[in-house]
Amino acid sequence: MRAYRAALLRFSEDGHSPVYEEDGLLVIGPDAEGKKVVRAAGSFSSLAERYPGVVVEDWRGLILAPGFVDMHIHYPQTDIIGAPAEGLLPWLEKYTFPYESRFADGAYATTVASFFFDELQRHGVTTALTFATSHPASVHAAFEEAQRRDLRFMTGKVLQDRHSPDGVRDETEQSLLDTEALIRQWHGKDRLGYAITPRFAPTSTHKQLSGAGELAAKYPDVWIQSHVAENLDEVRWAAELFPDSRSYLGVYEDHGLLRERAVYAHCLHLTMQDRQDMARTGAVAAVCPTSNAFLGSGFFDYLSADEAGMRYGLASDVGGGTSFSPFATMLAAYKVAREGQTKRGMTLSPGHLWWQHTAGAAQALGLDGVVGNLQPGCEADFIAIDPEATPLLARKHALASSLDELLFALIVLGDDRAIRHVVVNGQRRSTGQVDQL
Ligand code: GUN
Ligand code: ZN
Repeated sequence: MRAYRAALLRFSEDGHSPVYEEDGLLVIGPDAEGKKVVRAAGSFSSLAERYPGVVVEDWRGLILAPGFVDMHIHYPQTDIIGAPAEGLLPWLEKYTFPYESRFADGAYATTVASFFFDELQRHGVTTALTFATSHPASVHAAFEEAQRRDLRFMTGKVLQDRHSPDGVRDETEQSLLDTEALIRQWHGKDRLGYAITPRFAPTSTHKQLSGAGELAAKYPDVWIQSHVAENLDEVRWAAELFPDSRSYLGVYEDHGLLRERAVYAHCLHLTMQDRQDMARTGAVAAVCPTSNAFLGSGFFDYLSADEAGMRYGLASDVGGGTSFSPFATMLAAYKVAREGQTKRGMTLSPGHLWWQHTAGAAQALGLDGVVGNLQPGCEADFIAIDPEATPLLARKHALASSLDELLFALIVLGDDRAIRHVVVNGQRRSTGQVDQL
């Protein structure tokens, strides 16, 4: 067992309210199965005497918080971050597809995966649901690297058997065989999970989507990830290609791809019926505000999402997204909520923004009580934030007179410099290494 003394941020189990302890204690130890979990979290004064003899790491001055959860990111797009284009479809054609063709080479994929995981860690992200490319080698590279780092991590082979250039287009039958083989090899191994990954409806045939839906029914605890209703040209294209479906989201429903653990990136241009269908089936949205601003796609409608009761959480969507930093993503989400797709703005509290990138994201992914929070039983993935990492942050920190002011200062001014320690499955990490405590 080991304990950490510092300020402590976590979330109530029954909602999305932040719970904050100025002088807190986090006790980590094995559960009944030997898994490293949070054994206790609360104020130092109430807990310290219950754990005599446990070594206490003195991190006073820092804030312990759950590791961030990124609900949607593309590891192979790490190097195309910031590639400008007229919009989604030209961006895919000009940069994304040509670059992703390089991931047929497993050695190349491994070098990018290694850099990608270092980058997640520097930014305090400890779990990500990640696109690979259409090449099985890209999936092996990511899983091997995540396994080496002991991460809770999900990825999958992209399915795209049409409207895709040579180099990334796959073949229908083989793509489904490859997907099942990857599920069997990787899903549930250590902390890894597989995600069935149709790129988006326009680049898959009916046959490929049906096959993906059959696998999703056969392996119900495997994730599904795709994109939907990101861009108006894309929405029109999907309607032309699938005239029998009720809507773009309806294409996925018609192929058995809406269920719990199905994660759809963007969800901007949805109908109210679509949102209700997501709420009914348990499918969730990954909100990608920096990507949507960069590619000029639109604004996530928080009010309508809440009205329909659909679940959502935050995501960077790198390389469409412009930052690995959860602080940048939370700030962008705040601005988006102010504007709103339908100009019906709302003000998201800093606690709600933070929840969307931790406990809320975990809940949407079906990992409630596993990651994204620091309640007893949660896996020991957490970060220590320095609220005085920069001169301006230090000033704002000194002036903050409430938790909202403190969290908002971090959201607006924080970046990777504020992430002082990252602990993954109970072990402290520095970039690319495991530090034995
Ligand atoms: N739609 C289909 N593929 C992609 C992708 O790689 N990025 C984004 N943002 N949208 C997509
Ligand atoms: Zn994406």
